[in-house]
Amino acid sequence: MKETVSVLVSQQDIEKRMDELAAQIMKDYEGKKIYMLCILKGGVIFMVDLARKLEMEVEFDFMDVSSYGNAMESSGRIEVRKDLQESIEGKHVLIVEDIIDTGRTLDFLIQNLKQRNPASLKICTLLDKPEQRVVDIKVDYVGFDIPNKFVIGYGLDYAQRYRNLKYIGVLKIEE
Ligand code: PRP
Repeated sequence: MKETVSVLVSQQDIEKRMDELAAQIMKDYEGKKIYMLCILKGGVIFMVDLARKLEMEVEFDFMDVSSYGNAMESSGRIEVRKDLQESIEGKHVLIVEDIIDTGRTLDFLIQNLKQRNPASLKICTLLDKPEQRVVDIKVDYVGFDIPNKFVIGYGLDYAQRYRNLKYIGVLKIEE
């Protein structure tokens, strides 16, 4: 099996778009503190890079909600592998994701987190595949809308590999 990677979003384009997103977030949350909630594992690189661009007070927490396993397609099953460490009651929670596909993961998360009474709950994703949406969800900040290709890099994996690429690539697997 041969794996080939082609660049879909370059490192420079990610950097530039993150500056824009950070500026928008700082404006929207002026005078507030953000509780950044990273969805493991894919969201981790985007969250730490974005957080370093936010010139304001932020806190971090992590949740692991996985539905894919090692497959290239979403299974639709949601499993909480790791929950938050703290209460989010009264906090301004910003969910940070690497990608939204069917929307099932975020739909589950929104319902789950709303019951914990945050002051606000918003979503920031680096990538969005709007064509793939099964559940309609409101996304507040989107880095890039992308076509329905299997993407890797900048946090996204194929069988746990490629997460450390500095760009977003499309993966092709040939026999
Ligand atoms: C990916 C991604 C989202 C979810 C999106 O996570 O990080 O959490 O799938 O898909 P959906 O919109 O169809 O629900 P994955 O399960 O691959 O886990 P990982 O981030 O640990 O690789």
